[in-house]
Amino acid sequence: MQTQTYAQLPSDLNPQRLPQHVAVIMDGNGRWASKRGFPRIAGHRQGAKTLKDLLRCCKDWGIPALTAYAFSTENWQRPLKEVGFLMRLFERLLRRELAEMQREGVRISFVGDLSVLADSLRQEIDRAMTLTAKNQAVHFTVAINYGSRAELAQACRRIATHAQQGLLQPDAVDEALIEQYLYTQGTPDPDFLIRTSGEQRLSNYLLWQLAYTELYFTETFWPDFDREAFHQALLYYQKRDRRFGKVAA
Ligand code: FPP
Repeated sequence: MQTQTYAQLPSDLNPQRLPQHVAVIMDGNGRWASKRGFPRIAGHRQGAKTLKDLLRCCKDWGIPALTAYAFSTENWQRPLKEVGFLMRLFERLLRRELAEMQREGVRISFVGDLSVLADSLRQEIDRAMTLTAKNQAVHFTVAINYGSRAELAQACRRIATHAQQGLLQPDAVDEALIEQYLYTQGTPDPDFLIRTSGEQRLSNYLLWQLAYTELYFTETFWPDFDREAFHQALLYYQKRDRRFGKVAA
């Protein structure tokens, strides 16, 4: 029997039918920690390690884009201590992991309203995006202070302003134009969305971009979502028949 190390793509996955962009909702960090008698923040710390390994896995297995929902516009309502911890965690991780991501050819992008984040975090974000802008091994997008409805509202506002200024005609507003005004502008839509911890909802995540995405929900808490769990998710994906509204050929 083949020893499964997961450094390479598992042999039961078809390399020709891998999703080109995977999006994840990393849910269940708090419950993972509580179950073990740890504070919730321990779950976020472990969750960050899981995300790092998933990113490496995408690179190893030839999946060129990964987008992770790290902090939603609603997450500000969590206890101040937890919000503060998460913000410091993002900043620390960016500072600590940037050199390695650069070495591995990861291009890092951020989506969301970054204008309200602390200056020190925004500086790390700018540095990471600028330094890695030309990398091509994997495109890693982090959603921070992201909400899909807010993203669509800001797109509408900017389109309306440009129309008012005479820079575009109302007739020119079509799907392709709207896409140019989204935070994700220029990034192909996700083929596959994974949400962990048993919740089955989109929680205001990439609502426009997920229109034709295959959805996968698993009971596994995010910190436990390892390569074998990802392997199982991809097996599920490869069984799906993606028709994009057409009938089977
Ligand atoms: C949801 O679990 C998780 C979050 C709101 C935070 C996710 C952030 C990380 C894993 C850190 C990633 C770091 C970077 C740089 C992207 P939850 O707290 O809602 O869990 P629960 O539903 O069990 O309470």
